Amino acid sequence: MADDAQKNPPCQQQKVIILNKYGNKLVGILHESGTQAIVILCHGLRTSKENFIMTNLAAALENAGISSFRFDFTGNGESEGSFEFGSYWREAEDIHAVVQHFQKTNRTVIAVVGHSKGANAALLYASKYHDIKTIVNLSGSHDLKVGLEYRFGKDFRERLEREGFIELKAESAGGIDYRVTEESLKDRLNVIMLEECLHIDKECRVFTVHGGEDTLIPAVAALEFAKVLPNHKLHIIEGADHVYTDHQAELASFVVYVMKETLQMDLLNAS
Ligand SMILES: *[C@@H]1O[C@H](CO)[C@@H](O)[C@H](O)[C@H]1NC(C)=O
Ligand SMILES: *[C@@H]1O[C@H](CO)[C@@H](O)[C@H](O)[C@H]1NC(C)=O
Repeated sequence: MADDAQKNPPCQQQKVIILNKYGNKLVGILHESGTQAIVILCHGLRTSKENFIMTNLAAALENAGISSFRFDFTGNGESEGSFEFGSYWREAEDIHAVVQHFQKTNRTVIAVVGHSKGANAALLYASKYHDIKTIVNLSGSHDLKVGLEYRFGKDFRERLEREGFIELKAESAGGIDYRVTEESLKDRLNVIMLEECLHIDKECRVFTVHGGEDTLIPAVAALEFAKVLPNHKLHIIEGADHVYTDHQAELASFVVYVMKETLQMDLLNAS
C-alpha cells in the first residue's frame, strides 16, 4: 500500500534540501506537477513552509497543474541556522540559493511569491538579482519602521537599550520564544524598501495583494510604490486581514490567475 502510494501519488511531493550561501541547509517541499515552470513560495515572519497560506497556495497551483516549491528560510521550520528578526537580506540570499538550485536543474522559475516578511525578501531579491520576471508581494511592508510599536509596545527602544534585547513570546502552543537583539533590529531598520525597489527591473512585473482590512500595514502605502515601480499592479481583497484568514480561496485564485498569465506571456515571448 505504502509503496503504491509513493509510486503513484496524485501529485508528487518531495522534500528538497538546498545549501544556502552561508552553508546552512534549507528544507523545502517540491510540489511536482510535471511542468518545467516553477513558482517559489516564501513564508512570513515566525512561520514556516507549513503555514496555511503556503500550503493552500501550493495546493491551488497543483490543481492548476503548476509546480511549486515552498521552503523554510534560515532559522525557521526545518532549515538550519539561527532565527533572526531582521536579516531581510539573508532571506533574499536564501531565495537566490533556491532559484539557482532550480535553474541548475533546467527549470524556469516563473515567479517568486512572498507573504509579509517573505514578500519583502522577494522584493529585495528582485532588486539585487534580475532573473525573475514576476514578483507577487502579498501584504509586504512598505516601511520596515512601521509596526514596531504595535509589536513590541511603545517603550521598546528604552527596553532594548536597557536590556539589550526584547523577548518575543511564542505565539502558539509549542512555539518558541525569540529574542530580538539591537543588531537584528538595526538590520531591519537599515533596509529602506522604497529605495531598494528602485533597483527592480522595469521588465519585472510586481503584483501587490493587500487585505482591505489589514490593520498591521495600511493599504494606502502601496500607492507610494506604484509611483516608483513602472510595472506594478495593486489588487485589494476587500474584507481580508493580514493573513487572509477568511479569504484563502480568493487569494489563491488571484495568484493562480497571475501565474497562468505569466506562463502565457512566456509562451508568446518564446514563439
Ligand atoms: C540541463 O540542460 C543541459 C542542456 O540541454 C543539459 O546538458 C543538462 O544535462 C541538463 N541538466 C539537467 C540536470 O537536467
Ligand atoms: C508590497 O505590499 C505592501 C502591502 O500592500 C505595500 O504597502 C507595498 O507598497 C508593496 N511594495 C511594493 C514594492 O509594491
